Amino acid sequence: MRNRSYRGKALAGKTQIDSADQMRAISDLDEAAARAELARLADILAQANTAYHADDAPIMSDAEFDALRQRNAMIEARFPALIRPDSPSAQIGAAPSDGFGKISHAKRMLSLANAFDDTDVVDFVNGIRRFLSLSEDAPLTFTAEPKIDGLSLSLRYEGGKLIHAATRGDGETGEDVTANARTIAEIPQVLAHAPEVLEVRGEVYMSHDDFAALNARQAQAAGKTFANPRNAAAGSLRQLDAAITRARPLRFFAYAWGELSEPLAPTQSGAIARLAQLGFTTNPRFRCCRTLAEMLETYAQIAAERATLGYDIDGVVYKLDDLALQDRLGLRATTPRWAIAHKFPAERAWTVLEGIDIQVGRTGALSPVARLKPVTVGGVVVSNATLHNEDYIAGRDSRGQPIRDGRDIRAGDWVEVYRAGDVIPKIRDIDLARRPESATPFQMPDTCPECGSPALREPGDSVRRCTGGMICPAQAVERLKHFVSRAAFDIEGLGAKQIEAFWRDGWITTPQEIFTLQDRFGPGQPRQVKNREGWGEKSAQNLFAAIDEKRSIPLARFIFALGIRHVGETSAGMLATHYGTWPTFQQAMTEAQDAESAAYAELTAIDGVGPVMAQSLLASFQAERTEIDALAALLNILPAKARATDSPIAGKTLVFTGTLERMSRAEAKARAEAMGAKVAGSVSAKTDILIAGPGAGSKATKAAALGIEVIDEDAWLAMIGAG
Ligand code: IVH
Repeated sequence: MRNRSYRGKALAGKTQIDSADQMRAISDLDEAAARAELARLADILAQANTAYHADDAPIMSDAEFDALRQRNAMIEARFPALIRPDSPSAQIGAAPSDGFGKISHAKRMLSLANAFDDTDVVDFVNGIRRFLSLSEDAPLTFTAEPKIDGLSLSLRYEGGKLIHAATRGDGETGEDVTANARTIAEIPQVLAHAPEVLEVRGEVYMSHDDFAALNARQAQAAGKTFANPRNAAAGSLRQLDAAITRARPLRFFAYAWGELSEPLAPTQSGAIARLAQLGFTTNPRFRCCRTLAEMLETYAQIAAERATLGYDIDGVVYKLDDLALQDRLGLRATTPRWAIAHKFPAERAWTVLEGIDIQVGRTGALSPVARLKPVTVGGVVVSNATLHNEDYIAGRDSRGQPIRDGRDIRAGDWVEVYRAGDVIPKIRDIDLARRPESATPFQMPDTCPECGSPALREPGDSVRRCTGGMICPAQAVERLKHFVSRAAFDIEGLGAKQIEAFWRDGWITTPQEIFTLQDRFGPGQPRQVKNREGWGEKSAQNLFAAIDEKRSIPLARFIFALGIRHVGETSAGMLATHYGTWPTFQQAMTEAQDAESAAYAELTAIDGVGPVMAQSLLASFQAERTEIDALAALLNILPAKARATDSPIAGKTLVFTGTLERMSRAEAKARAEAMGAKVAGSVSAKTDILIAGPGAGSKATKAAALGIEVIDEDAWLAMIGAG
């Protein structure tokens, strides 16, 4: 991520490290000269480190830095007695890694669920009423505001001073971009009369005019131009050199907050007004809506103004105004229940479908991909689109019903492409009138294009899969890419590109081999990462350090990284929370192989785990047990975050039955889980408490028979302190 060309230019002629007498051959050095030389190197390397990492003002190039450090190491090897306590060799591991520092968010940075049409918005509002047990006509106010198409930023103020700024990252940890944020005029550095601790969140973006001017400047200087304002804003904020950020006109809208030492206001609208008072720019199109009709009107109004706003927006965000109600609604995995993004319809464009390629994924699925004549769709050049599966291409849905009036898609067709947000573009329509006569229907191959194994389509599956398993190079490499992906191991410096290169040369062929890379291709080995194209001493060391850092991995990430079919990020999180530790989970997967076992019943009773996912999990654990165990043995798998332990229901298993009158079932369940309890769907010997409302039937009888504590709604409310 370092901007090497910039470093090179800025430094020309500044360093005086290569004059002949200073670089005397090591073999010529006597002890006194060696001691002096080691002192000089320690000093200059320390200066270079500070200049690079702390001041963002490097004084030498990477190559020079590496050469000096190597010289230091060679002298030390010849005169081990002279190794200094502050030797640069000893500091290698401690040097900050390339790129930005990390900041752990005091409160998770959330994303938003999406609504694509009015019905989704109606469902959102009704869902909230149900959750809160509110009647249809109970008044409920929502705020509505543009959804800015930029990147989110969290600003932390302590005692009214900006102390750091972090990008969203994965929501838990972001990148420290404080130096860059300080260059943005709309971000105040000091606040008067602010709460002692105040985290302000909002969107960094670039206006259309500033974007056009920046691209013109870049083009003139033969620099990189940006595809759209969002990319330009991201590229500018994520600059290691704050001077570059300063020269790029970024803006900031505040729309949310993180940690607070005291509440800003009792409502969303009040809090936004307070942020404006404190000196933040808030969006002038912010409205309060008292009815669903008002929400949809505001949406239409903002959509109509979209083209003239002067900056990109991609929808309207609705938030429940009452913060106490927001609090009751709480969160799903990564999105709040009290807010939603009503997206604008996707952008579209017509182009020619030049061919249909087959990609083989990590689970062996053969996915047809449209190769398109490049076309700009909503400011982004699109050259491929997903075609889902062979039925979709043939013009049928998964139930055999016609889609696109049954028209199939062929190479050579004119197709209409659309994209919404960052998702992979899709094909919306085809133009039969422009179909070339030579176009022939698409035939899905029945062998894998990567390994030649038969590709089979199981009954009931819409997807054809390669049966080659790990002998299929595509499956193996895709699994590795998944393993290192952002929501899985997320190893800095080891992305899809690097995995492909290591895989091609046979250096990394299994996840396990990532963790033995240093032993096989590190210092002292005949073939070394640092000698590969695109790598150097420093980047290789950074890679090994980044790999080491990920030897400790949270359970949820580890489960997700295994790449088991049907086990996505959310399911992996649920499994981790349920089982808590790796040994417990692993043992459960062994015991549950028997479909009659209690372990199997427990697995399928987890909310969100259906029979399909359960089968897939068990099949993976059966087939790959040895590999999984060997991998786990190289790692320190961290237990899932302990649930709250200081509540009267922590660690207990609860079952709800009958009607709850003062709290919806969904809210009761969310509350119980937030307080550290498990909520099960049926009564068993493991149940601790049954909460029975009016109309409770067989569950109450069974609980009584098992001697389980049965309480009513009032007792439940008293138990959770809501009585
Ligand atoms: S509220 C409570 N309000 O959209 C959740 N987000 O798709 C915090 N965004 O990550 C987000 N404009 O980067 C909120 N007016 C707005 C927004 C907004 C843009 C972004 C934000 C978020 C993403 C979710």
